[in-house]
Amino acid sequence: MSAIYISGGKPLNGSVRVQGAKNSVLPILAATILSGEPCVIRNCPNLLDVGTSVRILQHLGCKAAYKDGVVTVDTAGMNRYDVPEDLMREMRSSVVFLGAILSRTGEAVMSYPGGCDLGSRPIDLHISSLKQMGADIREEGGFLICKAHRFTGCDICLPIPSVGATENIMLAAALARGTTRIFNAAHEPEIGDLQAFLNAMGGKVSGAGSSTVVIEGVRRLNGTEHQVIPDRIAAATLLTAVASAGGEIELTKARPDDLAILLSVLNEAGCTIQTDGTVIHAKRDGQLKPMGRVQTMPHPGFPTDAQALLMAVACRAEGVTVFCETIFDGRYRHVGELLRMGADIQVVERVAVVKGVKRLTGARVCSTDLRGGAALAVAALAAEGETALSGLNHIDRGYERFEENLASLGADIKRK
Ligand code: EPZ
Repeated sequence: MSAIYISGGKPLNGSVRVQGAKNSVLPILAATILSGEPCVIRNCPNLLDVGTSVRILQHLGCKAAYKDGVVTVDTAGMNRYDVPEDLMREMRSSVVFLGAILSRTGEAVMSYPGGCDLGSRPIDLHISSLKQMGADIREEGGFLICKAHRFTGCDICLPIPSVGATENIMLAAALARGTTRIFNAAHEPEIGDLQAFLNAMGGKVSGAGSSTVVIEGVRRLNGTEHQVIPDRIAAATLLTAVASAGGEIELTKARPDDLAILLSVLNEAGCTIQTDGTVIHAKRDGQLKPMGRVQTMPHPGFPTDAQALLMAVACRAEGVTVFCETIFDGRYRHVGELLRMGADIQVVERVAVVKGVKRLTGARVCSTDLRGGAALAVAALAAEGETALSGLNHIDRGYERFEENLASLGADIKRK
């Protein structure tokens, strides 16, 4: 079983380009189904999850290929409407194919999706929303058997601003009869990227980034080219890495506005952060300070995807940081692994109290999920001795050139 070996204590210095956003690419690849014409998607990271999406498209009869950061898709030959169970299990966002497949073919068959185990992750809002738009969805033996002649636009009020449900509705609504309005829609930047892609295809979508997204259904969508936005959580990973290890780094091709709250928390932790257009400079040379209370919230609040990463930094701050995870009910699985490295963390339900310790020590640890795994690497960069981090399939689902990027900044990190 391969592992990443990290010998901590080396400050990070240098410049890295931020990869394209995984969580944008996946719904955008699903959206290509809505047009029967070729699409070219640029700035796609080379990740297991992108590979899984390409395989879903190929299974459906589409031509899809990844090369050098570009996915080319031609969905003209699409001749199936089912997604195989093994591909559904590989990633949670396979469920966003539901709205798109139904819209294109009028039928879809798929099982419940897999993905990171962050506690219960129901898809009830996806299903109830598509039903409101006219879909007939039955559950049989763990499979969803779905039919929708042509979706009808309507008003949908989400009880939670779910990212995936907002995307699924947008995909279903783009070619629907009439207008769909999503109230309490997710505000995440990836919703804006999906809106930009649908509009480049000839769609009529507005409001992304606000609580109400409006989709006027159109008769057809054309093929197009699109550049995916930078990955704010990959950027957050590098920023927490330098906060943990110390040093001075520069991130290029970033979108600092998407990271506003993280940048302000890192500033509170004692990092010096400067932004200049698409460049972020981050420096940490003094002692880390505690960050008070960090509560995860839907965007623009503190992202749940950066909770574990920041916790790895808080482990060595001079004082107590309190985390409150409000989005997922099982997103503290990395805590047990951080404890192996000498961290002092107490968890009571959704609250984790982190008392900074003087030193962390290298240990054998295992990734529990994508961001939890990256957080262990962030902690290991500051630990004394060697950490062996296994469970790399999680990291490979979401990070391109994970250890190469950190090594280029001076980390002592190798995959064996
Ligand atoms: C997206 O997941 C991201 N994944 C996640 O990133 C991210 O953590 C999450 O949004 C929150 O920002 C992708 O974009 C592929 P949600 P998603 O629907 O869409 C509940 C990463 O590390 N809910 O906004 O699955 C749900 O249980 C990944 O890159 C329902 O109850 O998240 C959760 O408590 C991990 N019913 C809350 O809503 C539903 O039908 C938010 O989930 C749907 C969601």
